[in-house]
Amino acid sequence: MRTLLIAAAALALGGNAYAGGNAANGKAISEKVCAACHGVDGAKPLAPENPVLAGQYSDYIVKALSDYKSGKRANPVMKAFADPLKKKDIEDLAAWFSIQKSSLHFQR
Ligand code: HEC
Repeated sequence: MRTLLIAAAALALGGNAYAGGNAANGKAISEKVCAACHGVDGAKPLAPENPVLAGQYSDYIVKALSDYKSGKRANPVMKAFADPLKKKDIEDLAAWFSIQKSSLHFQR
């Protein structure tokens, strides 16, 4: 019960960063794998067909990657890159991209 309460509190405090996601590890994976198309921070994709990931909601990123992996969201390119990712990698990538400055938001 106590553990459950602590877990619930941690989730509530998570804010924008995905609960448990390690942004530094997300960056490392992005540099190796995702940067070629999305850019390391996901803000300036290298081609218009690659979506901006910077500043995207972390739970949206987790859902998109999980759905590519399961095939629920069908895209042969992203399926190939999502397949080798573990659940933890997905959470780390989501933590990294969600905190980057982004053209998806008005810059004040
Ligand atoms: C070869 C180029 C390429 C690489 C490498 C690549 N992506 Fe993608 N990514 C795409 C394309 C193209 C789409 C759009 C696919 C679609 O229409 O569903 C996409 C879509 C996405 C989306 C959904 C975005 C949205 O707005 O719905 C996420 C999240 C994503 N990629 C994350 C990643 C991550 C994380 C990596 C590295 C592990 C990665 N991608 C590597 C090309 C790439």
